[in-house]
Amino acid sequence: MTHTLLSPMDMHVHLRDEAMLKCVAPLSAQSFSAAIVMPNLVPPITTIEALKAYHGRILEAMGEMIFEPLMTLFFKSDYTRAFLEEASLYIKALKLYPSGITTNSEGGVASMDIETLRPVLEVMSDLGLILCVHGETNGFVMDREKEFCSIYESLASAFPRLKIVMEHITTKESVALLDKYENLYATITLHHLLITLDDVAGGMLKPHLFCKPIAKRYEDREALLQVSLKAHPKVMFGSDSAPHPVHKKECCGCAAGVFTAPIALQALTELFHKHHMLANLQAFVSNNAQTIYGYKPPFKEISLVKIPYDVPHSYGDVIPMFAGEQLAWSLK
Ligand code: DOR
Ligand code: ZN
Repeated sequence: MTHTLLSPMDMHVHLRDEAMLKCVAPLSAQSFSAAIVMPNLVPPITTIEALKAYHGRILEAMGEMIFEPLMTLFFKSDYTRAFLEEASLYIKALKLYPSGITTNSEGGVASMDIETLRPVLEVMSDLGLILCVHGETNGFVMDREKEFCSIYESLASAFPRLKIVMEHITTKESVALLDKYENLYATITLHHLLITLDDVAGGMLKPHLFCKPIAKRYEDREALLQVSLKAHPKVMFGSDSAPHPVHKKECCGCAAGVFTAPIALQALTELFHKHHMLANLQAFVSNNAQTIYGYKPPFKEISLVKIPYDVPHSYGDVIPMFAGEQLAWSLK
């Protein structure tokens, strides 16, 4: 049995830099035709020079593979119109992080006060740039995303022409917002479709499943699954594949991030097939994103075959989700 996907895209990925970039970028390019690349490097991507240089390093790491990295800028509330006009030639979106909320986000916004954000968000609306948001407060870890929903609502109402992507949503409350505001969209990861907090911390602690936002309750996972399986037109696949070297995961003070880039399409195909929804996978992994971003990715046919795939124990010094386990589908 074979299932073919046309130009699948990953609308949220961390490709990192240097040796890690060289290790993980080809793994994304093996499965995807394009991806939205996160800007949370050290230091974050906040200048046009840094943006262009990083884009160049990604292309170099890809070699001859067909893959378009779609660049993003790290959101700062003091960018000028002239700067954003020039940046808009190189980027699809800006990524907003509340300061300190996750890996390398210390330079993010100190406050989500609308008036502070207004000048940049007005210009973004004018230029048609998309706002990608890591939507968590610094409240109790299980409530952070739910508490952020009122901020999503204020942003969506205050900037009706701005497309806002709620990144890596994990709760039923975020799912509910999709039908309430025309300009709210979402990415959903593979891991949040598969795990709950029980898998992370219900038994022995699983550092390779620890991520931000943390996996939530069964009813949240169910809401994410339903909206993904039906390929709701406002949801897109975004892996949030976030590689960290093994010594940063298996240690005291585990870094947040699940590395899924090389196994994402195989596991998604297995999941959609299991639910008899394979016909909707194309929209979830490409067509919806094409419409939302107004973007046509390079043509690429990716075929999956129902032959078991033994997931490697590691790729370089990164441990993937399902390391050492078997998935039902392989890349052809
Ligand atoms: O788990 C995560 N890892 N969540 C994020 O928001 C950032 C990411 C990373 O960069 O490691
Ligand atoms: Zn991320």
